[in-house]
Formats: sequence, structure tokens, C-alpha cells
Amino acid sequence: MPIIRFEGINKSYETGKPVIRNLSLDIHEGEFVTFLGPSGCGKTTMLKLVNRLIEPDDGKIFVEGREIREWDKIELRRRIGYVIQKIGLFPHLTVGDNISYVLELTGKNKGFKGKRELEMIELVGMDESFLKRYPRELSGGQRQRIGLARALAADPDIILMDEALGAVDEISRRVLQDELLKIYRKLKKTIVFVTHDIQEAIKLGSRIVLINDGAVVQAGTREEMIFSPANSFVEDFFGLKNLTSYLNLTPLKEVCEYGEFPGGMEKVPFLDESESIMAAIRVMFDNGLGLVGIEGPEAGRKGVFRFESALSKLKENNPGKINA
Ligand SMILES: Nc1ncnc2c1ncn2[C@@H]1O[C@H](COP(=O)(O)OP(=O)(O)OP(=O)(O)O)[C@@H](O)[C@H]1O
Ligand SMILES: [Mg+2]
Repeated sequence: MPIIRFEGINKSYETGKPVIRNLSLDIHEGEFVTFLGPSGCGKTTMLKLVNRLIEPDDGKIFVEGREIREWDKIELRRRIGYVIQKIGLFPHLTVGDNISYVLELTGKNKGFKGKRELEMIELVGMDESFLKRYPRELSGGQRQRIGLARALAADPDIILMDEALGAVDEISRRVLQDELLKIYRKLKKTIVFVTHDIQEAIKLGSRIVLINDGAVVQAGTREEMIFSPANSFVEDFFGLKNLTSYLNLTPLKEVCEYGEFPGGMEKVPFLDESESIMAAIRVMFDNGLGLVGIEGPEAGRKGVFRFESALSKLKENNPGKINA
């Protein structure tokens, strides 16, 4: 059963123009789904429907199998962390109190709150000393981290993030993306992440949902979007232009062969399995080689990367989808 299900959702605001058109979509537990699409296509509206900040005109939304109108609104929102771009920390509360604010509402005791504040600040890669500071004493990136810490404090099953990294500079943004992926792997939450940045959607999403004009145009893995676009809109978004992003953002471990060693490997350079396909291609070109060696973090985890096997691996991972 999906953890979030949109079923035939339609929505228009006062102006009457449909903003969401017959949206049906399942999101499964543990997925990291990115909602991608041009400005005004309805991404924020879709998120707000899930935590009932707005109500659909018709259709149903289920969270954890239960229609959201059957949920107690407060309970529903406790299960769903929400992080937005202008994070809206309470300026008169310390960072620590901001993080544990939700726990305050649920009547948790002081000891529990203190412990949780500490866990959360460490989880988002910040030092304990920040707990005593005020939001105005933080950088933009640090504020976003605290926003995430606050959203995670009540241990929700689902996290909705709306352009959550949009306001920070390019470098901090990349760092925050990496940390978010680490947190996702560690906590195994379901994340729905809205962005209009294709690179970000490709990097973060285990599945990408491309939206246009209030409807899903295509939902799939980054390989499906890039190699099997459903129509010209998807092609324009993901086509060959973004093949470079794909090659830069896909780690070798997803496409290399482990364990098999052809002869002559002594002369071949090795790359770490977390490096990108593009990094391997560069090394291959620089050295005039048809393959490179791959090493993993564990001793003895070794393999090779070469084009033919990478392509068959992609086909294997995306049955029937890749005809490249
Ligand atoms: N409160 C509102 N009243 C009327 N129209 C609204 C309201 N909120 C959003 N809209 C309209 O609904 C459409 C979808 O808005 P939404 O905020 O969901 O888009 P978005 O995909 O999140 O865009 P962006 O990438 O710019 O954040 C837009 O045309 C917008 O103008
Ligand atoms: Mg938006």
C-alpha cells in the first residue's frame, strides 16, 4: 500500500482556473520523490494538499492508507514534516526551542526535549553550541538545516520539502543536498521534494515526477526520464542536454561490474565507486583506455567500469525502458 496516494484530485483557486487536473499518483514508503516542473505548474499546491493546508475540490488523498479527512489534522501534521524555503523559524526562540517546538505541543518532558534537540542538531551536521543561539545569528544555510531538524524532531514518517534549498548559494546547496541524502539513507523516511532545478531533481530523486500545468507528465527513475521520455515536453526537459547531468550525478557503483578482473589490470587507474560516470569517462579518455578499475570502501570490493556493461546494467535496472 502506498504511503501517499492522490486519487483523481482536482483543484482550482478562487479564480476558477484549474490548477491541479485529475492528479492520481502513488508514493511508496521509503521513496525519495522529486516533484519537478516549471513555475506555476502546481507543485506547491500538491504538497499543501497532503498536509491539508488546502483542500481539493474533488478526489481523495490517502496517507498511510487512511483518507486524510479521517485523520485528526494535528496528528496528520505530526506524521508529516514540512520544510519550506523561507523557513520561518521563531525569531524570539533559541535554535534549541525552535527544534523542539513541536514536542512542546505534544507535552513531552524537558529531558526528552533536550535529548532530541541534541540528536537533531548533530543529525543536520551542526554543533551543540548552536542550540543556545537565535535564528538571526545563523547563516541562510544553517537556518535551512534547523528547519530540517525541526521538521524531523517529532520523528515523522513523511517529509515534504518545498524548494527547501532554493535560497542558499550554489556551494552550500550542494553540501546540503549531500547531507540530505545521507539523512535520508540513515532514517529511511519518505521524502517528497519540490524543486524546479533539474540537476537537483536528478541528484536527489529515487523517482522524479515531472509536472506541467497541474498534471503529471511522466514519473520515473532518472534513467527512464532521460532515456525514455514519454513525449516532447519530457524530452525538452531531460533530453540529451541533461545527459551530462546524468553522467555527472550517477555514481559508478550503480553501473559498474564487481568482482570480475580481466588481465592487465595492474596498469589501469582505479576510481572510488562513489565517483561519477563522468569522472570515469574522463580518466578513460585521458589514458586512452576502454575501462577503469573501481574500488569500494570495504577491502576487496573491486570491479571495472566499461561502456558496454554499463549500458546493459542500465537496461537490466530499467526493463523495457532503455532502447539506447
Ligand atoms: N492562493 C492562491 N490563490 C489563487 N491562485 C493561486 C494561489 N496559490 C497558487 N495559485 C496559482 O496556482 C498555480 C499553481 O501554483 P503553485 O504555487 O502550486 O505552483 P508551483 O509549481 O509551486 O510554482 P513555483 O515553482 O513558482 O513555486 C499558479 O498559477 C498560481 O498562480
Ligand atoms: Mg512552489
